[in-house]
Amino acid sequence: MTIRRICCIGAGYVGGPTMAVIADRCPDVQVIVVDLNDQRIAAWNDADLGRLPVYEPGLDAVVGRARGRNLFFSTDVDGAIGEADMVFISVNTPTKVKGLGAGQASDLRWVEACARQVAKAATGHTIVVEKSTLPVRTAEAIKTILEAAQDPPGNGDVPRTFSVLSNPEFLAEGTAIRDLETPDRVLIGGEDERSIQSLAAVYGQWVPDDRILRTNLWSSELSKLTANAFLAQRISSINSVAALCESTGADVREVARAIGTDSRIGPKFLQSGPGFGGSCFQKDILNLVYLCRHFGLPEVADYWESVVHLNTWQQHRISRLVVQRLFGTVTGKRLAILGFAFKADTNDTREAPAIRISRDLLEEGAQLAIHDPKVEPSQISRDLRLESVVPDPETGTTSQALSGQGSWWTAGSVEQAVAGADAVLILTEWTLYRHLDWKDLAQRMRRPAWVFDARSVVDRAEVQSAGLTYWRVGDGAQ
Ligand code: NAD
Ligand code: UGA
Repeated sequence: MTIRRICCIGAGYVGGPTMAVIADRCPDVQVIVVDLNDQRIAAWNDADLGRLPVYEPGLDAVVGRARGRNLFFSTDVDGAIGEADMVFISVNTPTKVKGLGAGQASDLRWVEACARQVAKAATGHTIVVEKSTLPVRTAEAIKTILEAAQDPPGNGDVPRTFSVLSNPEFLAEGTAIRDLETPDRVLIGGEDERSIQSLAAVYGQWVPDDRILRTNLWSSELSKLTANAFLAQRISSINSVAALCESTGADVREVARAIGTDSRIGPKFLQSGPGFGGSCFQKDILNLVYLCRHFGLPEVADYWESVVHLNTWQQHRISRLVVQRLFGTVTGKRLAILGFAFKADTNDTREAPAIRISRDLLEEGAQLAIHDPKVEPSQISRDLRLESVVPDPETGTTSQALSGQGSWWTAGSVEQAVAGADAVLILTEWTLYRHLDWKDLAQRMRRPAWVFDARSVVDRAEVQSAGLTYWRVGDGAQ
């Protein structure tokens, strides 16, 4: 079956960029991305490509080439499903917040709603592709819902039939376009060889066949959770070593280089930092933990859960350390937070380390000036669950300063953020922060002043020669 029309349900960080690349690389395939969120769809349709809802380097060019040609964004979910040969489900699968499995299991309500909507609106034969990250064996539930809507054999000219594939996404935010255009691999899990071939032929337009892996449904679903768990585990491992480095005189960057040159270990994902963020690592590991407990494997569950515990500990460790270095109190003190996104080159703040660290410092009564080149102030407000304040233009502080109540505001520039600050915390590795003029910045700060570099992005000698006290993660020489 040659795929001519694709519908993708979910116009988020995965659905938008993934479908844009498919449309760009397959000009003969019509791709419609649908979402319930009309504001999001309007933003994808914005004539100004600088205002797409997802910030991702290179995305504007890809959307610019394909949109209106064979790439469309719409809120007409039923219409797009009805026309499609293939429907991708790319909706959110966050951790459940209440009920059975709360705090660990994935909330599958949006995935199930999609399956029911496909069951209702599809026509002819439809291949349904799980793009969302799902607990292993979710395809069983989707198949059951779809099979209940299938026409019995011989019913009508073009009977309604379905087949289900798993095709998890491995893109990382910030490098999504590169990851989609030259993936390490594309994974397709399924039972029906013809459907697998149809999807493989779509990717085959630009991905070499030896990079398209075919597995059974359950291996595919579980591989996605496992890949994220392995990646996150490396970060928790190196962050645990960073803490030991700080106590022993070792330097985590040197240790990472020394172990990473062992070809069996490899150099990637060994950068110590403020802990991993992002919408998926924590959620997917907790999902894995839940599944392990469900299948009677408590030791395996404990093993993976420790990766998340270490990560939470690392984030709190950094805020604690800042308080301790600033003479045990940050109440009323001005702190500049540089970077709020969970990593560079994205506007996404989901589970960003900056959230937990900022909340800890607000709890201690700090006054935070937050700078990020791409994150909207309204998003920071939602993440911190606190409205921003307006600082006094003369003093750069607020009337709340000594009341013990923490407050924050956004700074339009790094210079504004550091003005009058006692310390700078670098929490996202934006390129901009690698090239700061520390001599100039130091003059704007209140002395004694500190730089806490949780991302190891600035030059220690430059900061120290500007008269600032420098701390960076995993450096035992300080
Ligand atoms: P997202 O929250 O950015 O986007 C999901 C979109 O789905 C939202 O816009 C929402 O309105 C829409 N939606 C939900 N239910 C709907 C319905 N019934 N009909 C129409 N639209 C609906 O999420 P995301 O970051 O794109 O992640 C989607 C999935 O991909 C998740 O399972 C995630 O684990 C997985 N994933 C994410 C990444 C990533 O980098 N963000 C990478 C790989 C995999
Ligand atoms: C991650 C995976 O890398 C993707 O393969 C996967 O598709 C995706 O999750 C997902 O399923 O959502 P993403 O979270 O977008 O991608 O970004 P990463 O580059 O993995 O970074 C995650 C977090 O780890 C960031 O906070 C980053 O700063 C941190 N990190 C990463 C480190 O602290 N050290 C490192 O060496 C690498």
